Amino acid sequence: MKTLLRKALLVLIVSSGCATISGQNSTDYTLPDPLLMEDGREIKTSSEWTQIRRPEILESFENNVYGKAPKPSKDMHFSILTEDKQALGGKATRKEVAVYFTKSKDNYMTVLLYIPNQRNGRVPIFFGLNFDGNHAVSKEEGVAIVRIQSKSSTDMPTIPARGAESSRWPIEMLIENGYGLATVYRGDIDPDYDDGFRNGVHPLFYSNGQEKPEADEWGTVAAWAFGLSCAMNYFEVDKDIDAKQVAVIGHSRLGKATLWAGAIDERFAMVISNDSGCGGAALSRRKIGETVSAINKNFPYWFCDNFKQFNDREDFLPVDQHQLIALIAPRPVYVASAEEDQWADPEGEFLSAYHASPVYELFGLKGLPKEMPKLSQPEMQGHIGYHIRPGKHDITGYDWEQYIKFADKFFKK
Ligand code: GCU
Repeated sequence: MKTLLRKALLVLIVSSGCATISGQNSTDYTLPDPLLMEDGREIKTSSEWTQIRRPEILESFENNVYGKAPKPSKDMHFSILTEDKQALGGKATRKEVAVYFTKSKDNYMTVLLYIPNQRNGRVPIFFGLNFDGNHAVSKEEGVAIVRIQSKSSTDMPTIPARGAESSRWPIEMLIENGYGLATVYRGDIDPDYDDGFRNGVHPLFYSNGQEKPEADEWGTVAAWAFGLSCAMNYFEVDKDIDAKQVAVIGHSRLGKATLWAGAIDERFAMVISNDSGCGGAALSRRKIGETVSAINKNFPYWFCDNFKQFNDREDFLPVDQHQLIALIAPRPVYVASAEEDQWADPEGEFLSAYHASPVYELFGLKGLPKEMPKLSQPEMQGHIGYHIRPGKHDITGYDWEQYIKFADKFFKK
């Protein structure tokens, strides 16, 4: 009965193009309308969206949330470090590729790639950052243990065991379904602790005399997104990969980076957010689970400094996360939640995907229905997919099964 009442309380009033949402769980809030230009005019066509509104929203996210980042450098270059055509018992070719961020050979990230041996031409791939090192994704001995970063500026790094993260990366399942997999260790791009931006990619792009990013310049999440784009430059020259069919995927903090990468880099054909929560798929204005002030306090280096102005002032944010998802339109996007992951606000993740729908509809595409899907009942009829599964904050085989089904719909027409 209580749940019914709560549901009944969740009313959606569409007034002057803005959605005002109130419910027992969250305080009332008004979402900024993706289809209303900054000068108040309404967007009516997909070309107005692409030419006017999309750049406005993108710029606002850059200035206020993630920070501006450089584009991948023209001096970027690559080298194949290893290749094994008989990986996974002969089912796949495994490669390790160094992607050098600039002209120098000193700063690079290592892309670990698995390509199915049974293929006719180029293959679609899933591509995502990993938490613990490439050797933690795969159990195969041949995968190099890269420079694992410590968890803070004072700790010594501890090297995770081979395959420690493998439950999150079902390589064989992907290969059997005709997909390749590419992954990069997040610490190769920017270590995940606050060191005043002295390590990682930031200093490679400072202007003369600069010592840290400006208030509207990139934090660590944007740096990870930058790394994702750099890898995309490599995929474009690898003859085994269909660079027009790259699904970028990320869990949790790496899901935040994934959504941002998908928003700024339209070369990613599909974007998948797994339990990305605050600063990812979840609406900031709901203030449920992790809030803007909590994330900025615990991870002051993830976003740009300007984002801190919105600590406990979410309603003043010129954007909210449904607009981040809208920036991915008309490309397919999938948002997933876990029931016990209340810190990431599953309902906020759903609502954000739902409120991106009007932008997809401008392109004549279907978004999400209004009703939040029930547990383990994935919704993927349109260009926005969503599911919530039982269990904890994690990325599981069940999650991947849905992502493969969703990718099959678009990549295997
Ligand atoms: C913390 C953080 C989240 C993040 C998560 C993760 O819980 O508060 O924002 O998504 O770590 O990356 O696992």
